[in-house]
Amino acid sequence: MSTDAIVLLKKDHQEMRKLFRAFEKAGENATATKSRLATQILEALTVHTYIENEVMYPRVRALLPEVEDDVLESYEEHHVADLLVMELSAMKADAERFVPKMTVLIENVEHHMDEEEQEWFPKVRQGLGRKQLQEIGDELAERKKTAPRKPTSPRAMKKAVDAVVA
Ligand SMILES: [Fe+2]
Ligand SMILES: [Fe+2]
Repeated sequence: MSTDAIVLLKKDHQEMRKLFRAFEKAGENATATKSRLATQILEALTVHTYIENEVMYPRVRALLPEVEDDVLESYEEHHVADLLVMELSAMKADAERFVPKMTVLIENVEHHMDEEEQEWFPKVRQGLGRKQLQEIGDELAERKKTAPRKPTSPRAMKKAVDAVVA
């Protein structure tokens, strides 16, 4: 069974939004809950940005030059998220700056997902055929199985280097 690339990525976004809402709703003193949810959020983001950076963005950029600027801006938005994710992965949930930093991460990622869904994924849907979107979707699903889950894993950190030297 094949999966459309945009459908697959939007499903990831929905799961992320669910985790974000749960984090925001956790009570003032629910440090253990927030810590657990933060770990899930950081892992979900690590997988998602990895498969987009490794598969979706380069494929789309090559096939559809008119979205190149959107793709390049998206790499930078991922990079900003990566920096926050790295910092958060080294912090304790009861640190003074933990929740504010998570809040900024969530705001940034929401903005980024909205741009993908509203501004440039529709252009990708229009510009690529169903078959191409299925092929990219299959590749995304395949990569997802072996994607790094920990923000500190070397394959996840490769993006930090790519952001400056690529
Ligand atoms: Fe993205
Ligand atoms: Fe995304």
